[in-house]
Amino acid sequence: MDIRAFYEAFPYPPRDIEAAAAAPAPPSDFAAINHHVFAGRWSRERALRVLSAGCGTGLASTALASQLAANGVPFTMLCIDVSEGSLDIARGRAEAAGLAEWIDFRRAPIESLEQDAEESFDYIDFTGVLNHVEDHPRVLSALGRVLARPGGIGVMAYGALGRTGIYPVQDALRQLGLTAMDSVPEARRLLARLPETNWLRRNPLLADFTTISDAEFADRFLNPRDRAFTVRELCGLCGDAGLSPTAFLPPILYDAKAILGEAGLRDRAEALSREEQWHLAEQLQGSLHKHNFLAVKLGDGDPAKIDFGDPNYRAVIRGAAGRALAAGFADKADARVSIAFEHDGQTKTMALRLSGLEIEVLEKLCESASFGEIREALAGEDRAALDAAIERVCGALNAIGALYLEVAPPPR
Ligand SMILES: C[S@@+](CC[C@H](N)C(=O)[O-])C[C@H]1O[C@@H](n2cnc3c(N)ncnc32)[C@H](O)[C@@H]1O
Repeated sequence: MDIRAFYEAFPYPPRDIEAAAAAPAPPSDFAAINHHVFAGRWSRERALRVLSAGCGTGLASTALASQLAANGVPFTMLCIDVSEGSLDIARGRAEAAGLAEWIDFRRAPIESLEQDAEESFDYIDFTGVLNHVEDHPRVLSALGRVLARPGGIGVMAYGALGRTGIYPVQDALRQLGLTAMDSVPEARRLLARLPETNWLRRNPLLADFTTISDAEFADRFLNPRDRAFTVRELCGLCGDAGLSPTAFLPPILYDAKAILGEAGLRDRAEALSREEQWHLAEQLQGSLHKHNFLAVKLGDGDPAKIDFGDPNYRAVIRGAAGRALAAGFADKADARVSIAFEHDGQTKTMALRLSGLEIEVLEKLCESASFGEIREALAGEDRAALDAAIERVCGALNAIGALYLEVAPPPR
């Protein structure tokens, strides 16, 4: 079965159109895109041109479109996929969400995209597709060609280490001829009998294989083309396509120093290039089964670099961790506070110690104060200490996806 026939049979993600209201998740969250691609400076004066490359049933693209519409970010979106069945569901989803007038749908392979002034994009959503294409460099290069400058691409690609256990099982199913669309029940029965020594049974990240839907099961085990990547491989592929990753998300999971306790080892990690530090973190974490990252065109310098001297930045606070943030630190100056954050359905924690000044900064950031307003409100503080506090608090919370920065007008 080829990949198009597979996704005609099992449109992905296999969820109801009603789920269109799902919250956008990084990398397909405008706050993350604006921060890590445009340094928070997307002006909103013209429409953000979005390409959803391999949109599938449009869950992520509709969530992003809904978010853009709700936040007054003008946009146009082109959704392409090789599966007509998936596009039909995506169309229905966009209509149900009242977004159809801004979104075009086209059945086409990504490889057919040509550089064209009429068709260049400020943001390309490319989630869950790299894993299934035949010629990875060709597909990424095609996307690099239609990416505007400045512009960025959000990628979700499978993580090789975290998916330990899947590929030997896929191989075994193929050997047994369990590749057809109606092989799901037989494959399920086989997996139920796997010995405890099998790596699939020993990988807690994949333990849900007994409860997932047929479409999800087929996507995971019967997919005719599926591969996973290390961070180093992804960075290499990006480089060859003229792209440069700016952040793997959430950054804390790709920060080797957060794992290395000893100062000497942390110094050695710090001496590595940024890409090698991400790779090191992946090797140490061992559990990353999906890599979400944002990349820009090579040669743009670092368009995602935040200028902490700019007084116009405000924080966009995200998620339950974000809302509970300031409250969690009340009266806890210089004490270690454990902050929970969600990643890929799992709750993780980060320990953080903030000074009294940093807690004041955090409170102001949570009230949507701009950097300029914070400096004015805390004018009595030592300026260098205040600047350091702003940068540290923003960096720590951005690391868990609880805070993004944007140059935005004051809230009404
Ligand atoms: C796992 S789904 C991901 C869907 C969506 N991007 C998401 O994140 O939910 C992969 C999709 O990529 C599409 N696809 C695979 N190879 C493609 C190609 N070369 N050009 C366009 N679409 C492709 C498949 O038809 C399928 O709908």
